[in-house]
Amino acid sequence: MRIVMIGTGYVGLVSGACFSDFGHDVTCVDKDPAKIDALLAGEIPIFEPGLDELVARNVREGRLHFTLDLADAVPSADAVFIAVGTPSRRGDGHADLRYVYAAAREFAEYLSPGTVVVTKSTVPVGTGDEVERIIREARPDHEWSVASNPEFLREGAAIEDFKHPDRIIIGCNDQHAEDVLEEIYRPLFINRSPLLKMARRGAELTKYAANAFLATKISFINEVADLCEKVGANVQDVARGIGLDNRIGAKFLHAGPGYGGSCFPKDTLALLKTGQDYDANLRIVEAVVTANDNRKRGMGRKVIHAMGGDTYGKNVALLGLTFKPNTDDMRDSPALAIVQTLQDAGANVRAYDPEGMEHAAKMMEGVTFCKDAYEAMDGADAVVIVTEWDAFRALDLARTKDLLNDLILVDLRNVYDRAEVERHGFKYVAVGC
Ligand code: UDX
Repeated sequence: MRIVMIGTGYVGLVSGACFSDFGHDVTCVDKDPAKIDALLAGEIPIFEPGLDELVARNVREGRLHFTLDLADAVPSADAVFIAVGTPSRRGDGHADLRYVYAAAREFAEYLSPGTVVVTKSTVPVGTGDEVERIIREARPDHEWSVASNPEFLREGAAIEDFKHPDRIIIGCNDQHAEDVLEEIYRPLFINRSPLLKMARRGAELTKYAANAFLATKISFINEVADLCEKVGANVQDVARGIGLDNRIGAKFLHAGPGYGGSCFPKDTLALLKTGQDYDANLRIVEAVVTANDNRKRGMGRKVIHAMGGDTYGKNVALLGLTFKPNTDDMRDSPALAIVQTLQDAGANVRAYDPEGMEHAAKMMEGVTFCKDAYEAMDGADAVVIVTEWDAFRALDLARTKDLLNDLILVDLRNVYDRAEVERHGFKYVAVGC
């Protein structure tokens, strides 16, 4: 199949590279000449394990191409995927669909009869209807198929998620679109990944409902963690105790500093807006969003409390800044609120993150960025693990003791064993235990 992928951001680049790895012929198109030049030179603009080799291999084998030119790529495509960004619109939380609609307007004139247009970007219910209207308006000469195919990949595990998905969702309102998408995904469902066919609006909503449900699980266990701290229970025991019930499931029950990233915060807000637009109450999602916002700020206060309530002029070492490990993504990371709260309380923040410091430096002021965890801890009055990078899971506690002014370890990801840390003489503060 000949596939055109519009947008070389996270979803576009990973999907394009994976489709080409299945054997399809893929052309990724972007408006940004610097991005396309970099990709043509073999540089990958995002940090995602394994993506550089995957792209290089498929470029070398002639199945993956990059271009600025829609006129060159679109006419011969069996399917054109829209994978441009849908950020939160400033002020109201609605998904900003400007880029999706602009893309549809721009490529419509180059479409050939039979080409299926597929929205892969996360878009609110009804966006497919508008994309279809835009294309029909530009090209009244044919009937066009517009489908929805949401993507569920996680940053840091994107290639694995794409190639071994729990399910593939295709939302089509006509048989031709369904046939083309089935053919594109054939290598996966031969591999027994379930392919779920539904109408377009259902597919659009499934993506938001999935993310909102996962965010709900996280906020739920975070609130249970707070209760555990008050009643003297261990949230990890409780999470395991409930997670072994198949109806609940063990995943996404790790208590921590709150969810961040490019999807959950933006998609939960966009779902609330859809609820308002259609006059449907989504009170649970509303509560999840509020609980998560409050939690991120609360984590800074937790650190201050662990340090005896007064952090004025004290040094705090933050280990991990990205919203989760194996990414350089700082969007809506709990670290942002934690740094702000600590600085407001007069603390000096020293930080280290294996991949996120370049982005972090643009979003945080007054932070001393260090070359490794031990440099960050040198002279610190407390150490805080914000992101569970592997590099922080087995710190040399004996060496750490010599560097610190005060032996306080605040573990916001519960990666340490209390007894072991306390044996080294530390005060250990974790989440929900
Ligand atoms: C998420 C969805 O998992 C993915 O399906 C969707 O396509 C995009 O959004 P991603 O944002 O990459 O993926 O990260 P994910 O691994 O889901 O983690 C999201 C946030 O939740 C992180 O901040 C993480 O630390 C937090 N989290 C996750 C918890 O706090 N506890 C958990 O148990 C799981």
